[in-house]
Amino acid sequence: MTKPIGIFDSGVGGLTVLKEIRRLLPNESLIYFGDTAHAPYGGKDAETLIARGREITEFFLKHDTKMVIMACGTSSSTSYDRLCAEFPHLPITDTIRPAAAETVRLALQTPDFRPVLIATQATINSGLFAAEYNAGCKSKMPHIPSKPAQSNLPELPKLHLRACPMFAPIAEAGFVGGHPVACFAAKNYLADLRGKVNALILGCTHYPLLKPALAKVLGEITFIDPAEACARAARDAAKNLPPPDTPPEIRYCTSGDPEKFSKLARIILNEKIVCEKIASFK
Ligand code: DGL
Repeated sequence: MTKPIGIFDSGVGGLTVLKEIRRLLPNESLIYFGDTAHAPYGGKDAETLIARGREITEFFLKHDTKMVIMACGTSSSTSYDRLCAEFPHLPITDTIRPAAAETVRLALQTPDFRPVLIATQATINSGLFAAEYNAGCKSKMPHIPSKPAQSNLPELPKLHLRACPMFAPIAEAGFVGGHPVACFAAKNYLADLRGKVNALILGCTHYPLLKPALAKVLGEITFIDPAEACARAARDAAKNLPPPDTPPEIRYCTSGDPEKFSKLARIILNEKIVCEKIASFK
């Protein structure tokens, strides 16, 4: 019997990852869980986020899930190691590690690479992306010193960091795309970076939903969307798992309001979806 892949986020943001998973793994059955009753995740402490991840993973296991994708930068940066340790037989893929590896790859091949990570407060505070990025750059570019004073060689591409705590709630409220509310927030958080940076890492899976607002404020910029790197990592992990043997099915579940979730998910996915409320989640 086909075992599904479980994908979770605090809300609709992880649908940006689900889209990529469907593109790269079109035959897989999926269960998506949006934890909207507990959103946003970005201001919560690590223990609370680990407990959320645990409850959702247990729900997935009741549905015989063969792999879990943390389609949430905040969970990925605070809870990944703990969940891997607690569920040692379950393959888990996150968004932050693959995105950091992809950013290192771009840093190597892009002259004048000036990246900024935008993410929730919890993701920035965890320091995980910056640690992975800096370690990756140093291992791939050992010939380049990290301090310019050491020689006249160029520095390692410095990563800027910026927490944007209101972006996920703004997207959850439906103010997506180039909505004036999204543009107002983007201007407040990011206007000073215009011209200083040229690559924007969307460290929270809600942020691709605000791309037009971000582009308006930052001008010409390369977007680095973790969804693509995460989906590639999931595709690699899926190679070692039993392949699907029935036509793919997708279930959408939430701990919050299923009508509200369905309405927004339809806009994001551009198709009719019906979301169910899971009563066991309080
Ligand atoms: N989409 C999430 C992330 O990638 C969660 C944002 C939130 O709930 O604050 O970080």
